[in-house]
Amino acid sequence: MAEYLRLPHSLALIRIRNPPVNAISPAVLYGIKEGLQKAVSDHTVKAIVISGADGKFCAGVDIHVFSTPWSSDTGLGDLVDEMQRNKKPVVAAIEGMALGGGLELALGSHYRIAHVQTETGFPEVTLGILPGARGTQLLPRLIGIPAALDLITSGRCILAGEAFKLGILDKVVNSDPLEKGIKFARTILDQPLECRRIMNKTVPNVPNMDAIFSEVFAKVRKQYPGYIAPETCIRAVQASVKHPYEVGIKEEKELAVYLVESGQARALQYAFFAERNANKWSTPSGVSWKTASVRPISLVGVLGKHVGEFLDSPHLHMVRAAIYLVPSGVKFCGKHIAVLAPLILIQVHELFILCVRTGDGNFFFFFFVVLGPELRTYTLSHSTSSQLIEMENILVPRGWGEVVSTFLTISNNGTMNIHVQVLCRHTVFSSLRDSIYVIYIRNFRVSDLAGLDVGWKGRKGQGLTGPALPPGTPARKRGNIRYCPIPDILCESGRFGQKTGKGWYQYDKPLGRIHKPDPWLSKFLSQYRETYHIEPRVISQDEILERCLYALINEAFRILGEGIAASPEHIDVIYLHGYGWPRYRGGPMFYASTVGLSTILEKLQKYYRQNPDIPQLEPSNYLKKLAAHGNPPLKEWQRLAGTPSSKL
Ligand code: CAA
Repeated sequence: MAEYLRLPHSLALIRIRNPPVNAISPAVLYGIKEGLQKAVSDHTVKAIVISGADGKFCAGVDIHVFSTPWSSDTGLGDLVDEMQRNKKPVVAAIEGMALGGGLELALGSHYRIAHVQTETGFPEVTLGILPGARGTQLLPRLIGIPAALDLITSGRCILAGEAFKLGILDKVVNSDPLEKGIKFARTILDQPLECRRIMNKTVPNVPNMDAIFSEVFAKVRKQYPGYIAPETCIRAVQASVKHPYEVGIKEEKELAVYLVESGQARALQYAFFAERNANKWSTPSGVSWKTASVRPISLVGVLGKHVGEFLDSPHLHMVRAAIYLVPSGVKFCGKHIAVLAPLILIQVHELFILCVRTGDGNFFFFFFVVLGPELRTYTLSHSTSSQLIEMENILVPRGWGEVVSTFLTISNNGTMNIHVQVLCRHTVFSSLRDSIYVIYIRNFRVSDLAGLDVGWKGRKGQGLTGPALPPGTPARKRGNIRYCPIPDILCESGRFGQKTGKGWYQYDKPLGRIHKPDPWLSKFLSQYRETYHIEPRVISQDEILERCLYALINEAFRILGEGIAASPEHIDVIYLHGYGWPRYRGGPMFYASTVGLSTILEKLQKYYRQNPDIPQLEPSNYLKKLAAHGNPPLKEWQRLAGTPSSKL
């Protein structure tokens, strides 16, 4: 886990070895400590080099351990201090990555030499935690508050060149950093170490410290609403200014424990592994990314509401042809699609479908909905001619994205059925806006964006509305099932959504994007209730949320049970990336596991008894099977409920 090697010229080498990324497990930590002790007690050793095997220094603490008791005190912080205090110089020879706890090990060293391609940073905030092994106390001392705050609160990873400019690294090399590190170590055997111990430095003073912190607090609140880790990271960094090192590290520890134990950290770490699992898809016939071959793209098409309008703008005329015809040589491969710069179109469209035809005639469709901050996710840069879009791949059965589309329908039905019953539409919307269920608001926005007439056409085709509807059909029933005719009525009034400037919301102009609640809709809804004698009642926030969300979760279980989705993680990744589900809630399946399956089942049973004509509320067999086992961990669901025949 960490090898100790005695090297010539009075040197010792401690090499971390824990594939695939040399993460710090208890065994690795023990190995490093042991190596350090051996080097200290061997009087022939004058300096120590620390590196990572297989071209990777260290990707930080093993994320798996955050679900174990070890997480509240890994002991890594003490080791980092021990390294700093060591009387013999420690040189970190860094390659590949030094992330999180890996960077903390490097900061504990007296010198840091890295290969130019090394990535370094503190990604902890993205996992809902903070760099709790001295990172929040050492980095500000080394590079100053503004730069440290930026790295720690964003989780941004930077290349060695930038890290060198910031002062994190002492040297950047183009060749083997271990070789260079060993060579370097021989030159500093007798150098004084006091000035190399970051713990002894004071945080560089800047005149407007308070203003800097206030600004960063405001920034993260705006940028990461609902997330607790970014603000907690700032508080930990603040401790480095307010207190001497020994007190600062205590505060860091308290804040770290608070975050590690929070539900948000669990959800974010779950999301980290869920994404990696989702990318390991394979079909029952054995097809996976590993067996898939690289296929050249012969054609790329972009379909979307504003595309035509945008293409007509003179400054983009030149790229028009390229949008439809991409020169050969552009590859479709793995989780990356290589496309050409003209697809910068993505930046300005809120909804579009990217259609890619590969050389062998297969088509791939990508459905993008770009709302608010998610814009960044799909933004391509203009800088080079060939760009990569990184995206998550979820395997769904051939034909159409049933997982995604079904969810959309279920969510809309759930929300619509409920909002005709409430006193005022804004009640639903405002209660949803304040919570994780903001996703439902998006469904209305997405419907407006996609065009309400699209669904209307579909329903007319199915005979649910329009001329094919048998005369005498009750407005709010189709067979025994409750039907919500509101979207049809909106369309009959010419409210097709964003394209006509009004739909569920009103917009600043046809095709406009600035939306606001429409008083027309409130008035319409009260007339609607009068017409159909719907008694207005105040529905509690809990009921609104449960009926909307649990129906969705129920549907997810149905999809799992029918073998349409490969795993609960796949469903969650769809929601995280496709619908902007708050990452700190992990996704609907993870959320269900935190609420408890029996609770969800009981609530659904209750609501279904009250509303037997809403089939979405009828608990699925899969959920019932699982709930019979209590609240088993998500990882166990598929084993316990039995494997359905896969439709993939
Ligand atoms: N712990 C455990 N496993 C890890 C890990 C970690 N810190 N980092 C990566 N892995 C695992 C992944 O789960 C994956 O495993 P599988 O092959 O079984 O799926 C494998 O390593 C490779 O990871 P990727 O598929 O992501 O490979 P990549 O080459 O695309 O990226 C990476 C490599 C940049 C290291 C990326 O995995 C990453 O960003 N990892 C997280 C790094 C991180 O957040 N470190 C901070 C940890 S918390 C900490 O250190 C706390 C502290 O301050 C005290």
